[in-house]
Amino acid sequence: MAEVRLEHAGDVAVIEIDNPPVNALSQAVRVALAARLGEAMADGTVKAAVIACAGRTFVAGADINELGKPRSPPFTGDIAAQLDGCTKPVVAAIHGTALGGGLELALACHWRVAAPDARLGLPEVKLGIIPGGGGTQRLPRAVGVKLALDMITGGDMIGAQAALEAGLVDEIATRADVRAAAIAFARRAVAEKWPLKRLRDRAVEFAPSELFSRARTEIARRQRGLEAPLKAVDAVAASLKPFDDGLKREQAIFAELQRGPQFGTLRHVFFAEREAAKIPDLPADLPPREITQAAVIGAGTMGGGIALCFAAVGIPVTLIEADKAALERGLAALRRNYESSARRQNLSAAELDKRLGLVKPSLQLAHAAAADVIVEAVFEDLALKQRVFRDLDRIAKPGAILATNTSYQDVEAIAAATARPADVIGLHFFSPAHIMRLVEVVRAKETAPAVVAASIALMRRLRKLPVVVGAAPGFVGNRMLFERSREADRLLRDGASPQDVDRAMVEFGFPMGPFAATDLAGLDISWRMRKARGIVEFPVADALCEAGRFGQKTGTGYYRYEAGSRQGVPDPEADRIISDVRNRLGVAPQPIAAAVIVERLIYPLVNQAARLLEAGVALRPGDVDLIWINGYGFPAWRGGPMFYADQIGLESVRDRLGHLARELGEPALVPAPLIERRVKEGRGFYA
Ligand code: COA
Repeated sequence: MAEVRLEHAGDVAVIEIDNPPVNALSQAVRVALAARLGEAMADGTVKAAVIACAGRTFVAGADINELGKPRSPPFTGDIAAQLDGCTKPVVAAIHGTALGGGLELALACHWRVAAPDARLGLPEVKLGIIPGGGGTQRLPRAVGVKLALDMITGGDMIGAQAALEAGLVDEIATRADVRAAAIAFARRAVAEKWPLKRLRDRAVEFAPSELFSRARTEIARRQRGLEAPLKAVDAVAASLKPFDDGLKREQAIFAELQRGPQFGTLRHVFFAEREAAKIPDLPADLPPREITQAAVIGAGTMGGGIALCFAAVGIPVTLIEADKAALERGLAALRRNYESSARRQNLSAAELDKRLGLVKPSLQLAHAAAADVIVEAVFEDLALKQRVFRDLDRIAKPGAILATNTSYQDVEAIAAATARPADVIGLHFFSPAHIMRLVEVVRAKETAPAVVAASIALMRRLRKLPVVVGAAPGFVGNRMLFERSREADRLLRDGASPQDVDRAMVEFGFPMGPFAATDLAGLDISWRMRKARGIVEFPVADALCEAGRFGQKTGTGYYRYEAGSRQGVPDPEADRIISDVRNRLGVAPQPIAAAVIVERLIYPLVNQAARLLEAGVALRPGDVDLIWINGYGFPAWRGGPMFYADQIGLESVRDRLGHLARELGEPALVPAPLIERRVKEGRGFYA
């Protein structure tokens, strides 16, 4: 039950918000908070107030359950205005995460004291909106336009130390006594008669207009298609105006975005993320596994990236590689990668060294013995992986989680190489592993529920987005990708050029077209896999590989790459190879419209996902959407393939699939039984 309590610590009033689990600013909390604040200010014995929270965190924002529904005042902005009017010092005591409306509340206090591990942010853009409680106006007044733009348009949190340096918090307390520290801080403010620091009364420091234009350019590049980040730039730009004018602008933009389509779609994504954490058949009372030590086997790109994920959250990790030169190469690459991402995250050199110091290189598998979790990331070869697991079975301590990072090998066959298959699980990280949030948690038949639960908890601790999938070939993401790749190859055969296909998908919202992406990843790995399995449905890709065109690494693939350039240019030689394939197969090329390209590449994803849902390999349509948004660049603002199919109308998708199946003679495109059933019931995947 939500409660806001008013207690007295001598002459300091402590207003405590208690609304588990995350102290969201629900309607009831806002009403009670406004009332307690009024009472504290009216009480002659109260000299100052502290706003604090019970439980695990400071206010984590608006109540997501109320978002999009009619709400009534007082709104967060009204409480912020009430705080502006307070004539006694008010200090926010922040622990856990101060997010969205929570940070806006704190920004309207006169001072902010934070626990050392507190994190602060305005994540609204991730929901397709902008802060609506004055955050876009007060944050630039606190930290300057540059950081405010970064935080509001990116939606990411910053830590207490960075917040202190930026002027967002005024003091860092020790973990145990953030509230006591805030009370002491308030007493000092009273005793020393500090003038109240109201951000609304401050002018924003000089901000050259390039800051805004640069932010817009960055957004167009990195968050293409999303409306909220661009609108957030407009709102922050309005902070250069008088405060009340800026607030009006913020309100207008907030209201406009709340009416727009992206809010609904991104809210769906948000709820899908919360849902993904819940696995229906896992008992709730599984004992947590303590993880204090990790080991990663294989110091290649994936292994190094995974090791960094552990180090970034303070878990010591042994990085094991059989070959000395490979280990050294791996470590050098790891440092290089981390330096570049540390620059983006404003990590200090000391912090960087501390984190890299947690990665302990080793040439002996025996050094995995102390680890609570071991992630194998060696070359994608089943026999090799099985050998590693046989050895690990001897070495690993009892109860250790044995994970494989395979992206398509049979996890059950790997588990069978050990005498403890219940402890074996797949953790399919995406590349680059220290940046990509998605991890497919691959649950094999014999994986123990406790191991699944512990792996999910561990991935969340690594700040990843774990999505549980079944141990079928290609799991969920790559199994779907296979369908798209086959259709992409057929589009080339039928008359499209790589540029036509890539352009259509980029216009749809993917950051990269499928062929540019394949050139980047390399064509040879899947070529080898196809050859090993006798798959012959990729005539164009096969012909390119036979000509030694493996993508960027060989300078040619679907495109040609000038030395040192990552930007492909159309290549007449590739066109010739494609044209030879058409001639060989007797296909007369036809122009293919962009809209048809989109259908032919998206609908097979939907169809395959429907089959995976039916087979229980994917648990929910939301899980599929998360996998494609976070692992394969599907535009979040379109909600993922399943949500998109519902928007189009599942019946039209079904009809179109049926038509394509006939036209192309492709059995994989015959509408999946689940789709047929849903259409018959007049339903989509979600409704
Ligand atoms: N309103 C209501 N409930 C919320 C909430 C919010 N703003 N944020 C989280 N919750 C709920 C979750 O749904 C979950 O409930 P459940 O246990 O019934 O599923 C619970 O709080 C814990 O959240 P979870 O995300 O599992 O915990 P976490 O410790 O990993 O992360 C947060 C906590 C606060 C960092 C994370 O939940 C978050 O980012 N929340 C959204 C914050 C936000 O966007 N605020 C701005 C809204 S405008």
